Amino acid sequence: MKRIRLGVNIDHVATVRNARGELYPSPLRAAILAQKNGADSITIHLREDRRHINELDLKKIINKLKIPLNLEIAATKEMLRIASRSKPPFICIVPEKRKEITTEGGLNLNYNRNFLRIFIKKLKKNKSRISLFIEPSLKDLEKAKILDADCVEIHTGKFCNLVNKKKNYKNELKKIHRVVQIGNKLGLEVHAGHGLTYTSAKILSKIKGIQEFNIGHFLVGESIFEGMPSTIKKFKRILKL
Ligand code: PXP
Repeated sequence: MKRIRLGVNIDHVATVRNARGELYPSPLRAAILAQKNGADSITIHLREDRRHINELDLKKIINKLKIPLNLEIAATKEMLRIASRSKPPFICIVPEKRKEITTEGGLNLNYNRNFLRIFIKKLKKNKSRISLFIEPSLKDLEKAKILDADCVEIHTGKFCNLVNKKKNYKNELKKIHRVVQIGNKLGLEVHAGHGLTYTSAKILSKIKGIQEFNIGHFLVGESIFEGMPSTIKKFKRILKL
């Protein structure tokens, strides 16, 4: 069994930077600090509207980083061009809606499947590891396999909301558990991400077979209070990494 990895998403360092339209705080500095403190990969989401990370961030980070960069992109021609040029080692394909505050759900794998198949094939030629962000659904898992993805990342948003609101999350946890089991059987690497906190990450860490956790908003938020090094270390302790 491969070692579980922690991916640190630094999008919201760029959100704070962009609030002033200047250069501080630097996402590159955050990426290097996360790397120094045990992050296994750095995730950035280059959105169509460039609301946080921009192409210059991508260029700087990919040039300086020693751990893998995980680039989140929507399946668009523009992103195909950018990803083909920068050739990040990891790519996660995510849905994007203009007005959403964050990535609200997994990909709709019934829509434009042919384009997605070609998109994945082209990116794999650069040896990028391709992950699809999906809902904890067996149907989507099977479609991801047919599309020749290397990994799926389960959207944990609904589960995390239930945990945060102290509501019954058992059904959602069961769904995630099942997708992890079947995903592993299908030979897919299974990741988890979205909305994770110390509490929800701890619950999910009990599921065997999740190989990567990608955590952003809460981790950057806690870094304000506790500092990024101790926040990353605490997540690593919780995930037993
Ligand atoms: N994984 C994916 C695919 C995402 O799109 C996001 C949000 O950008 C995350 C993980 C991280 O979510 P959060 O910022 O809520 O921790």
